[in-house]
Amino acid sequence: MNVDEQRAYARRLAAESIAEGDATGWFERLYAAAERGETAVPWADLEPNPLLRAWARPGSGRAVVVGCGLGDDAEYLAGLGHDVTAFDVSGTAVARARSRFPGSRVRYRTADLLAPPPQWRRAFDLVVESYTVQVLRGDAREHAIANTADLVAPGGTLLVIARAREESDDPGRMPWPLTRAEIESFPLPAVRIEDLLDDEDPPVRRWRAEFRRPAVS
Ligand SMILES: C[S@@+](CC[C@H](N)C(=O)[O-])C[C@H]1O[C@@H](n2cnc3c(N)ncnc32)[C@H](O)[C@@H]1O
Repeated sequence: MNVDEQRAYARRLAAESIAEGDATGWFERLYAAAERGETAVPWADLEPNPLLRAWARPGSGRAVVVGCGLGDDAEYLAGLGHDVTAFDVSGTAVARARSRFPGSRVRYRTADLLAPPPQWRRAFDLVVESYTVQVLRGDAREHAIANTADLVAPGGTLLVIARAREESDDPGRMPWPLTRAEIESFPLPAVRIEDLLDDEDPPVRRWRAEFRRPAVS
């Protein structure tokens, strides 16, 4: 199956799931189908995100990776010294991440960003969200944005990496790029919002946005 066929497979699962009123059920179905060898996960390039690599710095605080998939971003941050929790709504993805990185210091968890464990509220010095909000739509996207910001501790930082589009552009097919209004809707003060073209061929327009929660709020 080539990557276009993988994307078509994922889009079909997404459409079926959303039509059933289930915004997130298709992720587990996709990862499970990949485990059975029926497809591959189109976004799983098994490398840390280059826009994260160029941004991240060594640290030792509590970090969380939202929608961690197969774990590459989480392992990268752990390698920089951060104390990393990483979660995904797909139990199969989490199991695969654990098995790819035996002995990892990362705490991998199966959890839903739309209903995160209450003890994670404002608990992390660094929150990294890459490409999860963009695969959610409508109310699920709004809740995901609010709940991602809610993970950030006082004085902590949120990094969001997502596909970008103009308001006037067609919303397109999954993944659904974020408009400027959406990237600015994370309810935290923005430090920097970058509008970038990546180094893919052809280049893809992306947001890399950094937010910070005031130390006392
Ligand atoms: C497009 S993938 C990106 C994966 C990874 N962040 C990366 O950059 O390669 C989106 C990931 O978010 C996960 N996800 C989607 N909705 C979620 C939710 N509500 N809670 C937790 N994870 C979610 C999916 O299972 C999937 O692994």
